[in-house]
Amino acid sequence: MELTTARLVLREYSAADFDAVHAFATDPRTVLFVDWGPNTEQDTLDFLNYCDTSAQAVPRTGHTLAITLAGVVIGSVGLTVHHGAKAEIGYTVNPTHWELGYATEAAKALLDFGFSELALDQITATCRPENVASAGVLRKLGMAQTGHLKNDRLIRGAWLDSLVFSTTAPQLSSKTG
Ligand SMILES: CC(C)(COP(=O)(O)OP(=O)(O)OC[C@H]1O[C@@H](n2cnc3c(N)ncnc32)[C@H](O)[C@@H]1OP(=O)(O)O)[C@@H](O)C(=O)NCCC(=O)NCCS
Repeated sequence: MELTTARLVLREYSAADFDAVHAFATDPRTVLFVDWGPNTEQDTLDFLNYCDTSAQAVPRTGHTLAITLAGVVIGSVGLTVHHGAKAEIGYTVNPTHWELGYATEAAKALLDFGFSELALDQITATCRPENVASAGVLRKLGMAQTGHLKNDRLIRGAWLDSLVFSTTAPQLSSKTG
């Protein structure tokens, strides 16, 4: 699958993306608030294998795409369908491209895909309360905070809280008269 936004193309990963993924997945700034990384080479290979396997699964539940800008991989965005019509979204952008609106733009395209093409009825996301950038993205996407889970995620030896954000499928407006 491939999604196009005003500035970005979101496309399937290939093995040739190893260096670009490894660059942001080994950066300490990228992994500060997440429970993965910094990646070993094997971690990055496993990630690319997961993307390849999930892209071919039927039915497909994992939609993890490379965020590309002018043909260059600058990050990752993923939508994982857990059960029924519910899914979780996540994203990472290479720090060299932070604060330019790319995470919001990529995640918006995947949210729209989830609601329109996968007929999802709810998409959630979690982030650490300290991760103001991620919470900013979720608020800018129009997602509402619906929970605060205490000591929810073990990140490099420390149990950290999670904020839970959620959005539901846009209601189709019905015409009257
Ligand atoms: C979270 C992350 C993907 C944001 O990527 P980004 O492309 O810089 O985000 P955007 O430019 O779309 O930012 C959208 C909003 O988030 C907020 N925001 C983004 N970066 C911020 C920062 N460093 N400090 C404060 N707010 C920030 C702002 O409200 C911003 O909107 P604005 O520019 O209109 O003010 C990026 O910081 C990242 O990759 N972090 C490491 C991985 C990670 O934590 N992923 C999320 C796991 S829960």
